[in-house]
Amino acid sequence: MIISIASDHAGYPLRRSVCDYLTKQGHTIVEGGATSAEVPYSYVLAGQKVSKDILEGNAERGIVICGTGIGISMVANKFPGIRCALCTNEYMARMSRQHNDANVLSMGARVVGSSLALGIVDAFMSEGFDGGRHQTRVNDIKEQEKDLFKS
Ligand code: RB5
Repeated sequence: MIISIASDHAGYPLRRSVCDYLTKQGHTIVEGGATSAEVPYSYVLAGQKVSKDILEGNAERGIVICGTGIGISMVANKFPGIRCALCTNEYMARMSRQHNDANVLSMGARVVGSSLALGIVDAFMSEGFDGGRHQTRVNDIKEQEKDLFKS
């Protein structure tokens, strides 16, 4: 799968681990964001990059990482068509796929350790969407986006 991954400086070390992990599994990574943990980089730009990659068809799934995962998930969720789930455990990641058809995973590098983060990534990447009654809810989100963002 093609996965867009970006982070700010706070998320940089965890991003490296996640990118290495997914590359070894055979995924293609489209990477963006901070170039080191030392040079400040806005989580807003990183969240925009991943969201645009998905909406423009350059990636099928996204992963965004900042210090808490909060700011960058807020940015991603401003984009109609992006369903970004901030997950701190594997259960949340599984549910974000099964019930919410999340297309972007957000994590906080200062919240989760790297081994938990990789478990979260595994859950997010392996689970499918359950559809059924959950499809109705996701459709409702899409309708809301149309109402709120119509020009
Ligand atoms: C950076 O210090 C920090 O504010 C950022 O990574 C993130 O946690 C914001 O939500």
